[in-house]
Amino acid sequence: MTQKPITQAALEWRDGLPYSPAFNDVYFSSDDGLLETEHVFIQGNALVNRWQQLPGDTFTILETGFGTGLNFLCACRAWLTHAPVNAALHFISVEKHPLGAADMHKALLHWQPLHAMASELLTHYDTLLETGTASLFNDRVQLQVLFGDATACLSGCSTKADAWFLDGFAPAKNPDMWQPALFAQMARLSHPQTTFATFTSAGIVRRGLTATGFKVVKIPGFGRKREMITGYFIGHGHGS
Ligand SMILES: C[S@@+](CC[C@H](N)C(=O)[O-])C[C@H]1O[C@@H](n2cnc3c(N)ncnc32)[C@H](O)[C@@H]1O
Repeated sequence: MTQKPITQAALEWRDGLPYSPAFNDVYFSSDDGLLETEHVFIQGNALVNRWQQLPGDTFTILETGFGTGLNFLCACRAWLTHAPVNAALHFISVEKHPLGAADMHKALLHWQPLHAMASELLTHYDTLLETGTASLFNDRVQLQVLFGDATACLSGCSTKADAWFLDGFAPAKNPDMWQPALFAQMARLSHPQTTFATFTSAGIVRRGLTATGFKVVKIPGFGRKREMITGYFIGHGHGS
């Protein structure tokens, strides 16, 4: 079977922020994308607490939609601060339309507190686009990006997630991604301690995750968003 070539993201810049005309949606919130990532993905998966008491020497995050790498860098920052120095973070993301290096650079300039960390990611970005892997921050973080459609990429993945960053444009703007087949892959790649967090509380996501064995909990969203969802994997056949 021949694989479709990967199409790079074609961005527009609106008020200095990256915007996808193809999906008619933003890459990160104009309110404060950095604080939103902290709230939704880092706190939503209780990562600081879990990393301060890490039982093993690795932790794996799986993400849908690498985008500008903002979630990745926030996770790295928390990891480098709170996880044991001899432990390694494995961050595996899937991305159908990777940003070009110049767009990536411009997008990450936005986050002053992350400049030093962004610079390390940018140094490795060309290699990442070519090989899909990079070892960062004195080998304390192993990044892998699988290029292609989320469900297809995850179906070829065998590494289980300790936490999911369920990102990607809003379900209403990107219905092709938020499908039962994606949630089924998430379930296949989860274990009893696996958690997830996502910015959306759309019914299609809540129902899809529940049906594949996740306990879904609504919590307050970031900023003007009333709700988001988090949860954990209960197991196959336990959804209701
Ligand atoms: C809101 S952005 C993600 C933001 C990102 N997590 C960050 O930290 O910047 C959504 C991303 O999902 C990607 N995407 C959309 N549909 C996809 C699909 N079906 N499979 C994989 N990636 C997809 C888009 O190309 C885009 O980069």
